[in-house]
Amino acid sequence: MRTKPGLLQTQAFRIVLVYVLLFAFSTTALLFFTYWNTRRTLDDQTDQIIEAEITGLREEYQHFGLPGLVETVRARTLHQGQALYMLSDNKHHVLAGNLAFWPQVSEMGSVVEFDYERPVDGKLEARRARGRVLLVPGDFMLLVSQDVHDRYLTERMFTTTLPWTVLLILLLGTAGGALIGRNMLRRLDAINRTSGEIIAGDLTRRVPLAGSGDEFDALAENLNRMLDRIERLMKGMREVTDSVAHDLRTPLNRLRNRLEESVARLNASGAQAGEIERAIAETDQLIATFNALLLIAETDAGTTRAAMSPLDLGEVAADVTELYEPLADEKKISLTLLPGPPAGVEANRSLVAQALANLVDNAIKYTPAGGQVRIATAISDAGVDLSVSDTGPGIPLADRPRVTERFVRLEASRSSPGTGLGLSLVAAVAHYHGAELVLEDNMPTGLKAVLRFPKSAMRALPGAPLKSAAE
Ligand SMILES: Nc1ncnc2c1ncn2[C@@H]1O[C@H](COP(=O)(O)OP(=O)(O)OP(=O)(O)O)[C@@H](O)[C@H]1O
Ligand SMILES: [Mg+2]
Repeated sequence: MRTKPGLLQTQAFRIVLVYVLLFAFSTTALLFFTYWNTRRTLDDQTDQIIEAEITGLREEYQHFGLPGLVETVRARTLHQGQALYMLSDNKHHVLAGNLAFWPQVSEMGSVVEFDYERPVDGKLEARRARGRVLLVPGDFMLLVSQDVHDRYLTERMFTTTLPWTVLLILLLGTAGGALIGRNMLRRLDAINRTSGEIIAGDLTRRVPLAGSGDEFDALAENLNRMLDRIERLMKGMREVTDSVAHDLRTPLNRLRNRLEESVARLNASGAQAGEIERAIAETDQLIATFNALLLIAETDAGTTRAAMSPLDLGEVAADVTELYEPLADEKKISLTLLPGPPAGVEANRSLVAQALANLVDNAIKYTPAGGQVRIATAISDAGVDLSVSDTGPGIPLADRPRVTERFVRLEASRSSPGTGLGLSLVAAVAHYHGAELVLEDNMPTGLKAVLRFPKSAMRALPGAPLKSAAE
């Protein structure tokens, strides 16, 4: 089963994040546009007022000369207002105006902004103004400007609040995304968990509904309907296989008994007896194949009632070794059980013994005379291993996935007897125990077949402490 995705990997969170970024970007752009437009309009208004004042002053100067200009500036600055003037000679000696001193104005003629101070409630207040400095014939300078402090404050407020606004949008958006993503993950988790349990063999499980009638509920309902259908089909199949196996096994056993009786009753001669013995062997083979097929089907579907209990893999290995010693001797193969730590796992003894027997059977069958077969148990970080290694031809990498399928036999082993069900049963037993059948290269030659139980299957054995991987 695939591992469950983190919050950042959920589609919902990513979509929300993209939208939040887009939203933050467009909000910033919109605010900037509004700000820029408003500022331009306000500046235009101020500039128009300044231009009108300059025109008025220019007319005054044309009619009454410098004294007229001084007079008008004095008259206009009698009351504190928005308008700010300054008329001085080139030594900054002030003739008229309502500014405390000449502000820092870099450019002549064009519109500029500058800071100035003005008394408010007995204190000097720094303010902002906008205006033009003009040259008056005779080396005089005239500053005509307007106070724009309110606009300046609005602008400052805007530039300080904008980053916070964007930050808030991003934070709220991300939190919202996380919330939606978490909710989605929870719903998907339920589906994944159920799928996992079904894959592990419990076909009766169903995906829980939230009852909200949303798309997840619709998906869960469809999945459940699909599972109902699969369960019905499986049940039908099982019933057919069971009845076929049952119906055929009984006559097969009867046939076998008859043949045995015949040998005994007919008191047959050597040749005839040999024929019948071969027929009996064939029947035995057929019965064994049926039994193996039924066992694989039951183990695979998780329908077997095989009881689980803590057992020592080393003990199972010892039993199987003893069982196969005569066959190994006959084939001139050295069969060794390597000493190992107590390896306790929760498992079904007869299934594990059958699986190990199949592996040992293969190893002896496919290893040429003079070879070696080793059975070993080991505890590692990955779990508990029960392995059989041989010095035979091994299985090519490309063939490894398919040799565990039913009835698959490799071309190289066609000459030896077999039905191609041995490894299928080992794989089914592994699956039943949540274990894994790993086929690897044995060094320097041959195959190493490992039945790897997960750490979660490890159990303490009565009378022996549970070995940890570190020991
Ligand atoms: N130890 C091994 N060395 C080389 N090839 C092997 C080994 N074990 C299995 N194989 C290959 O994998 C195939 C499948 O093995 P499997 O045990 O499923 O079937 P089988 O041994 O042919 O028949 P059965 O076990 O049903 O009597 C074998 O036919 C053989 O080609
Ligand atoms: Mg086999």
